[in-house]
Amino acid sequence: MTVPHGSVFVQRQQAPLPSVTRIAAFGESVIREMTRLAQRYDAVNLAQGFPDFPAPAPVKAAAVRAIRGDLNQYAVTWGAPELRAAIAAAYGRRGWAGIDPEHDVTVVCGATEAIAAACLALLEEGSEVLVCDPLHESYAPALLLAGARAVPVPLRWPDWTFDADALRGAVGPHTRALILTNPHNPTGRVFRDDELAAIAALCRDHDLFAFTDEIYEHIVYEGRHRFLAQYPGMAERTVTVSALSKAYAVTGWRVGWAIAPAPLSDALRKVHDFLTIAAPTPFQAAGVAALGLGDAYHERLAHVYRRRRDLLLRALAAAGMAGAAPQGAYYVLADVSPHLAAGGFADSAEFAKWLVEETGVAVVPGTALFLTPGAGRALVRLAFPKRSATLELAGERLIAAARRLGVAPRRVFAQRQRAGRAQQGREGRRA
Ligand SMILES: Cc1ncc(COP(=O)(O)O)c(C=O)c1O
Repeated sequence: MTVPHGSVFVQRQQAPLPSVTRIAAFGESVIREMTRLAQRYDAVNLAQGFPDFPAPAPVKAAAVRAIRGDLNQYAVTWGAPELRAAIAAAYGRRGWAGIDPEHDVTVVCGATEAIAAACLALLEEGSEVLVCDPLHESYAPALLLAGARAVPVPLRWPDWTFDADALRGAVGPHTRALILTNPHNPTGRVFRDDELAAIAALCRDHDLFAFTDEIYEHIVYEGRHRFLAQYPGMAERTVTVSALSKAYAVTGWRVGWAIAPAPLSDALRKVHDFLTIAAPTPFQAAGVAALGLGDAYHERLAHVYRRRRDLLLRALAAAGMAGAAPQGAYYVLADVSPHLAAGGFADSAEFAKWLVEETGVAVVPGTALFLTPGAGRALVRLAFPKRSATLELAGERLIAAARRLGVAPRRVFAQRQRAGRAQQGREGRRA
């Protein structure tokens, strides 16, 4: 095995890394490594969270029109005015009034750049930043680039909630910010009102910035998505990040945005200017068309994703993998303890390698998703923004793998779904 564990990185043993201190802790993205393995073994790729179905026709038509119309040169650094206006208007329609497109919105190259630019622009060297554990794999490297350090706050199975005392206990003298993903990748949590209120109180009490990655804001199955920026005292300290990538099935277009009050936006724009200059001009034009699609589009998409989620959950149960039904986003974290035991795999990293090579399904090992050493050793993440046929094929292969290992089917989702429904009831009563 070449994959070490308890780390967010895969170190390639055959290719030593350059010795620049800033990137010494970097390895390769495990998710993109799994995608390469999927290509090599002609596997179904449930590792990387990108759709395998077309983007909406009007959005593609707008991109084509923009290129035909020769919108090919640099956009205004902080974003084409039409797109910034469309972003402010879209949030305004959802009850977030008062976003000033001139000063509060910066268009960047995807949510990834927005988070990295926020870290580089707003954190001094030596800062500590609270992150939920597990976390999206780009956060720790972004913090390292900024000379900052991620401090994990565990989310606990089975409901992936955090302990309020653990959250408060993680704050130290160097804590400057908190990164929140909501809906959360990889757990699928949609954080409740009381959880967001607790996070907001912590930020206010300790004068922390909040960088919120809300790239799955439209992909919600249970509960209700709320913006942390709208909690009392949060507007002035929050950078809200989202993107076209997931909501419109255009992860390759590299258009995202950050919404923040002018002083924070000004700082972030300086970084963005010298990092990437501007996001792709024709795709910014297409972004205006995308944001005009409205609620009906998002409701339909969430409905489709819910059906795909349930299809995958049924297949996982049949393949002996206990998965918790996500409340949002498009990933399932599944427990593969029986597979590890039956196959003699040391952990999910070893199992994931076997799975892609031997059975043709690529997943992300849980070891790559947690900062806490040892966490995620029996979990794998599967992405379901795929055609039904893709998920059915993956399901057949996972079931065949379970049979090969002698792992029995598990009836696994009842408890989690009951918990989900109970929570939904509580949310409904509060709303
Ligand atoms: C939580 C989260 N943030 C950011 C990204 C990347 O976003 P983008 O492609 O817009 O940079 C992903 C992609 O999987 C993600 O899951």
